[in-house]
Amino acid sequence: MTSVTATPADAASMPSRVPTVRPATAEDTVFIDDLQAIAFGPGRFARTAFRIRERFPIDTSLSLVAEVDGVACGSVWMTPISIGGKNGYMLGPLATHPNYRKLGAGKLLAREVTKRALARGEGEFVMLVGDRDYYCPLGWEPTTLGNIQFPGPVDPTRVLLFAEDRTLASTLTGPIEAWQER
Ligand SMILES: CC(C)(COP(=O)(O)OP(=O)(O)OC[C@H]1O[C@@H](n2cnc3c(N)ncnc32)[C@H](O)[C@@H]1OP(=O)(O)O)[C@@H](O)C(=O)NCCC(=O)NCCS
Repeated sequence: MTSVTATPADAASMPSRVPTVRPATAEDTVFIDDLQAIAFGPGRFARTAFRIRERFPIDTSLSLVAEVDGVACGSVWMTPISIGGKNGYMLGPLATHPNYRKLGAGKLLAREVTKRALARGEGEFVMLVGDRDYYCPLGWEPTTLGNIQFPGPVDPTRVLLFAEDRTLASTLTGPIEAWQER
């Protein structure tokens, strides 16, 4: 019986399936458009979060792409906003291509973009609309229902906040407004 074992050279070329992240570039535009269409469908343009991004542009320097074995497979955006006089970010859309799900790319993107944004020291929180089961184990917390006002319908139980100041999730109040230049 012949057995096949990986030589060191083979091992180096074997797929790792371990996700990594990098900043998005102009060449990623088509990939990101296609990915968001696959992940959210044509209804994405009617979403309240989309309306916010229409009003307040994303920070392209915080647009990240996840790769698995050199292949782009996920994306996340950040929109600078302010709520109640405090600057912060709205995370989303976050999406991983269906062929690359459950490898950790989504959580890596959410964690990494949050770390990079807050490390700038200019924004105090990262707010998003998403599933508690997915985001709360990563540090997001439910907000006080109805405190954060959106320019359209949103399920208030899905409005979650990440902040170093752990009281902010329950106290942050107001409409979503433009990032305030200081
Ligand atoms: C949600 C999404 C980004 C997750 O991407 P991913 O790369 O597969 O995420 P990860 O590999 O980091 O995490 C996968 C784990 O989260 C779980 N998970 C995925 N979506 C979940 C959800 N909505 N609620 C709770 N858990 C969820 C998976 O079951 C998996 O669990 P396991 O590790 O126990 O198997 C991806 O499924 C996606 O693009 N979905 C469509 C778009 C979307 O809903 N985006 C989020 C809106 S804010």
